[in-house]
Amino acid sequence: MLDLLIQHASLPDGRTNVGVAVQDGLIKEVKEGLSAEQAPAREVVDAGGLLLSPPFVDAHFHMDATLSHGLPRVNQSGTLLEGIALWGELKPDLTQEAVMARALAYCEWAAAKGLLAIRTHVDTCDPRLLAVDALLEVKRRVAPWLELQLVAFPQDGVLRSSGAWELLQEALRRGVDVVGGIPHFERTQADGAASVRMLCELAAQQGKRVDMHCDESDDPMSRHIDVLTAETLRLGLQGRVTGSHLTSMHSMDNYHVSKLIALMAEAGVNVVANPLINITLQGRHDTYPKRRGMTRVPELLAAGVPVAFGHDCVMDPWYSLGSGDMLEVAHMGLHVAQMTGQAAMRQCFEAVTSTPAGILGLDHFGLRPGCEASFVLLQARDPVEALRLRAHRLKVYRRGQLLAHSEPVQTTLHLPGRESSTRFFWPEA
Ligand code: FE2
Repeated sequence: MLDLLIQHASLPDGRTNVGVAVQDGLIKEVKEGLSAEQAPAREVVDAGGLLLSPPFVDAHFHMDATLSHGLPRVNQSGTLLEGIALWGELKPDLTQEAVMARALAYCEWAAAKGLLAIRTHVDTCDPRLLAVDALLEVKRRVAPWLELQLVAFPQDGVLRSSGAWELLQEALRRGVDVVGGIPHFERTQADGAASVRMLCELAAQQGKRVDMHCDESDDPMSRHIDVLTAETLRLGLQGRVTGSHLTSMHSMDNYHVSKLIALMAEAGVNVVANPLINITLQGRHDTYPKRRGMTRVPELLAAGVPVAFGHDCVMDPWYSLGSGDMLEVAHMGLHVAQMTGQAAMRQCFEAVTSTPAGILGLDHFGLRPGCEASFVLLQARDPVEALRLRAHRLKVYRRGQLLAHSEPVQTTLHLPGRESSTRFFWPEA
C-alpha cells in the first residue's frame, strides 16, 4: 500500500486528472487517470482538478536582513544606496539570537507559502561573521522542512573592504555553500573585473557554485557580466555560475547585448532577476521616461539562458514590503517584462519553481518518479490562474509529509436586495 496518493490533480505541464503516488518520501508514479482504486494508499487526497505544483524556490534572498524593517530606522528615500548605508548602521547592533529568530520566522512564512528552497546571500564583511554563524545554524534547524543554500556575499566589496577576502574564505570554511561577489560596488571597473576573476578561481578550486550580485545599476557601461561570462567558460564552470540582478543590461546598447546574450548562452550562465526590487530601486536617477531596470528576461529565455525570479528582500533596509509569496514575485516579473502571452506566463511560473531548482542544483525537486515527494496544492487550476490569483496554498508537502494546510478561501456576500451567498472568487466551484 502507498503512503500517499494525490488524485485528480492538474500539473503545470498541462496534464489533467493525474495521480501522484508517494512511497517512503519519494514520488513513485505520476500517471493520468491513476486513482485510489488502482493505487490504494493510507492517505488519499482528491485534488478535484486543482493544480499540484513542485515547491516554490527562491534563487535570491537576504535572510540575514529579513524582517528587520525599521531597525535602527526606516529607509526614508527608499533607495539602494540608503539601504546599504542603513544596513551598515544596523550591523554593529546585530546579535546572533536576533538574526536567527527573524530568519526562523521567515522560514515558517516560507513553508506556509509552499516555498521550500531558498538561496540566501549572507554578508561576510562583518569581522565577527555573526550572520554567517546564525544562518548556518538556521540551515541546520530547518533542514527537515526547508532547503537553505548560503552564498558568501561580500556586501562592502571583496577588494574595496579591508579583510573581506579573508573573511569570505573563512565563511566558506565554516560551511557556506556558494561564492558571491558584488563587482559593480568595487572602487573601479578594473577592481570589479579583478574581483570576478579571483572569486571565480576560488570557486573552481573548491568545487563551489558562483552567484554574484552583478551590475545592479542603471549604468549601461557596468559590464561585469562580460567578465563573469568569460570566466565561466575559461574555468569550466558551465551551469554553475549565476549573475544576479544584471539590471545594467536593461540600459545597455542593443548591439552589445546581442553579442553578450549569445556568449552567456554559450557559457551556460544562469540569471536571476528580482522584479519587486529592480522595479523599485532602479531608474531612481531618471526623470521621465523612467527605466524599469529589470534585465532582459524574454530575450535571455529566447536564447536558452535559464532565468529565475528571486524575492531578494522582505521587510528589510531595502524593501519594506513582501511576504514570501513567490507568486507575487512572478506576477510582478511578468508585468515588468511584459510577458503576458500564454507561454510567457507559464515561463514566469517556471521562473519561481523548476528553473531556480535547476540553478540551485536541486535535482530531487520535480513532479517525476524518483524525485522527492515535495509539492504544493494550489487553489487554482493552472499556472496562469495561479499567477492571476496569487493562489492560496491548500496543502504543502515535503518528502511526503504534510507541512502546512489551510481551508479554501471563500467569502460570504451580503449584497443589498440579494440573499447572502458564500462563494469562491477564483475558478467558480
Ligand atoms: Fe540581493
